[in-house]
Amino acid sequence: MQKNIVLTGITPSGTPHLGNYVGAIKPAIDFAKNKDLICYYFIADYHSLIKVWDAELRKQYTREIATTWLSLGLDQNLDNILFYKQSDIPQIMELNWILSTMASKGILNRAHAYKSLVNKNIKNNESDRDKSITMGLFNYPILMAADILLFDAKHIPVGKDQVQHIEIARDIASRLNHVYKKNILTLPEAKIDKMSATILGLDGRKMSKSYKNTIPIYSTEKKLRKSIMKIITNSQLPDEKKDPNNSTVFTIYQNFASDVEINTLKEKYLAGGMGWGDAKQILYEKINNELIGFREKYEHYQANPQLIDDIMNEHGVKARHIASQNISKIRNLIGI
Ligand code: TRP
Repeated sequence: MQKNIVLTGITPSGTPHLGNYVGAIKPAIDFAKNKDLICYYFIADYHSLIKVWDAELRKQYTREIATTWLSLGLDQNLDNILFYKQSDIPQIMELNWILSTMASKGILNRAHAYKSLVNKNIKNNESDRDKSITMGLFNYPILMAADILLFDAKHIPVGKDQVQHIEIARDIASRLNHVYKKNILTLPEAKIDKMSATILGLDGRKMSKSYKNTIPIYSTEKKLRKSIMKIITNSQLPDEKKDPNNSTVFTIYQNFASDVEINTLKEKYLAGGMGWGDAKQILYEKINNELIGFREKYEHYQANPQLIDDIMNEHGVKARHIASQNISKIRNLIGI
């Protein structure tokens, strides 16, 4: 039986934060523990070109992501995992062009990211509704389809915002299969169960880089504590009974604690007598405990960046080998 292939990409456009940990990294590491799955995880550095225009920053984000994933327990020695950089796989670019000849422009016109920029231009009464929109942004879903279809991936763990992109990849794949009369490309499916997990940020909105309300995964204990102490609460006094369902501190705690621990904290909220400082201290200790081993590994990799480069290079070679076999089949099919 052919093993199911899970594939997902991470765009290097920011420093990894706890929202990424809960929504993407943790579930991805868990998938990789299932030996019946083959997992391809990659850093989508070409995708980042549409929004990060600083070369040094791109390198920094790329290294931080690689270091974070490996330090959090993605085991590079497991033989069902590949963890590579998109730019190390030139075949993705080759497939990108082939797929663009199968992609319907009408569907891309309706892609959310593009449409929202067009709507903004219309709202601002711009005479050109495509003002400041690059072809990179417009073609983004085709490149994503190439990432996925090149590796025959079936399950694509993504957040809800990416589901439309997976639909577009399916559409492109079935068109190519139909035109060249062979089911050569696997139709991918979005897997959003665990990936849709979100965590609240310091201000009680969804944790997101764009809201500037994130807690970085890597920081010192002191800084971690300081940011947790900044979580916004109401002004209830320590004696007062508190509503756990209306508390950012409690909600974030649920992302990390066991059911028993969650219940214990809930009772403390309902009983009264616990100040916000105490609740935050409990949350800090929980998160900090989860990150102690991670922090040491992260610092080790930081002190030896060559280790990260070596792992990415080694996995790049393996992924390239598979990519080159798969692209040959496609070239053959289309007569090139
Ligand atoms: N666009 C995805 C994001 O921003 C990242 C990504 C690039 C991706 N290529 C992919 C995700 C392929 C899944 C599959 O989150």
